[in-house]
Amino acid sequence: MHLHVNGVVKRFGENTVLAGVDFDVRSGEVVALVGENGAGKSTLTRVIAGVCRPEYGRLEIDDQPAGFRTPDDAMARGIQVIYQEFRQNLFPNLSVAENLFVREEGRRFGRLLVSKSAMAAETARLLGDMGMTVDPQVKVGRLSVAEQQMVEIAKVMTHDLRMLILDEPTAALDGRESEELFRHVERLRGEGVAIVYITHRLDEVFALADRVVVLRDGAVALTGVTCELTREKVVSAMVGRTVDDLYPKQDNTRDDIVLSVCGLGRRGVFEDIDLDVRAGEIVGLGGVLGSGRGDVLRTLFGLDRADSGTVSVHGKPVNARTPAQAIRSGIAYLTPDRQAEGLCTGRTVRENISLAALADFGGPLGLVRRQAEKQAVDELITELRVHTASREVAMGTLSGGNQQKTLFAKWLMTRPLVLLMEEPTRGVDVGAKAEIYRLMNELTARGVAIVLVSSDLPELVAMSDRVLVLRQGRIAAQLHGGDVTQHAVLEHALEAAA
Ligand SMILES: Nc1ncnc2c1ncn2[C@@H]1O[C@H](COP(=O)(O)OP(=O)(O)OP(=O)(O)O)[C@@H](O)[C@H]1O
Ligand SMILES: [Mg+2]
Repeated sequence: MHLHVNGVVKRFGENTVLAGVDFDVRSGEVVALVGENGAGKSTLTRVIAGVCRPEYGRLEIDDQPAGFRTPDDAMARGIQVIYQEFRQNLFPNLSVAENLFVREEGRRFGRLLVSKSAMAAETARLLGDMGMTVDPQVKVGRLSVAEQQMVEIAKVMTHDLRMLILDEPTAALDGRESEELFRHVERLRGEGVAIVYITHRLDEVFALADRVVVLRDGAVALTGVTCELTREKVVSAMVGRTVDDLYPKQDNTRDDIVLSVCGLGRRGVFEDIDLDVRAGEIVGLGGVLGSGRGDVLRTLFGLDRADSGTVSVHGKPVNARTPAQAIRSGIAYLTPDRQAEGLCTGRTVRENISLAALADFGGPLGLVRRQAEKQAVDELITELRVHTASREVAMGTLSGGNQQKTLFAKWLMTRPLVLLMEEPTRGVDVGAKAEIYRLMNELTARGVAIVLVSSDLPELVAMSDRVLVLRQGRIAAQLHGGDVTQHAVLEHALEAAA
């Protein structure tokens, strides 16, 4: 298959999101589609998939005008997409097996064969192929984000597949799962599938892609064969300038302990967690998915209950049974899961940002001081360079990375003493990443204590003053100073095999 889009123009109101894009991809090649947040990558994907109608432009498949208009047309041609906000396609209350075959019932198995056991067997086979051991009967809503992502990928495999678009597929995966995914991508390429791979991680671009297409402000800024390009060339095409210092880490650690955690445990998940974080210090928690690193944060924030241990902030005991109590103790939690618990996509940007801090804008008679609220929101939008038409548009119309920045803004509004950050730059482009790191510096300079969980190892290592590595729910190692390396973190995280 050779798919070619020609001169595609897509506008949302005044905003021209695709300004005449030419793009093509062939069977058996991986094309990386990169660009800053809001550059138009996901929109181009939606045009190809027939989800979004462009104002102008042509689509050709094998030099024949295609012009499909609906997702069904695209699927009939063998075009499948793993969306950035992929979980909108999954049904949390249905089992893994039901999710995989929800469109297929009646087609693939016919009436007689829609037996639960046939679906379960086929599901187990598909998941097994992907190295997953999830029970086909378990409800998708109970799976981790990474597992849900793998289910979505398995679902694509149930179709006749000629072209696959993956929109930031590794954003929710850890290193090992990403490797697994790469193997699938390579296998599909070998089978002659045409692949478009969208990512903000340049190492993935150079590891996987045959060609690179850089979008900037809705136009193609650079295209070329990967082996003839350098990281510098790609980055400067993306941002229109050179980004010299990707990790501008400052050492702002002071003496006083802000967060003190002693013997924290949650049965079956983690135990004996001792952790002191000083003012201005960033302590990283390393470990693979399932090591308990994210669960510790959820428990500190009152989303899960601890069975043992004590927590205090500035020496005052904290017994956070709910997030509201945690917030009152000065703890904020930047969740990795902006779709499920971070943001309300139907509400405005302003409402999302000020939600957790509304108490600060209380006026007489319980009214919200709107003017002060608007001003504070605007300041944060400017400071974080959130690309949005205004603070009053719906959250759901922002690009993925800009939603992530908005989530950050929401927690800055509460002026936390302790900031728990999980995957803070997931889906964020290289330029905006550096901005978020600079903001972390500003927070630590003000004395905020930060606990950082990140599957982006270079980020974890570069931004943490210390790293505790969790393995199977216990602290397996504490790394300081020069010992904090990617290699050391990985080694301790995976040691079981050695
Ligand atoms: N339904 C919509 N209504 C209005 N504007 C939209 C809509 N969908 C996208 N946009 C706008 O189009 C622009 C491009 O968005 P898109 O999601 O394609 O960016 P992206 O390159 O995928 O970014 P990211 O890396 O953050 O995912 C953004 O400015 C976004 O606000
Ligand atoms: Mg996108």
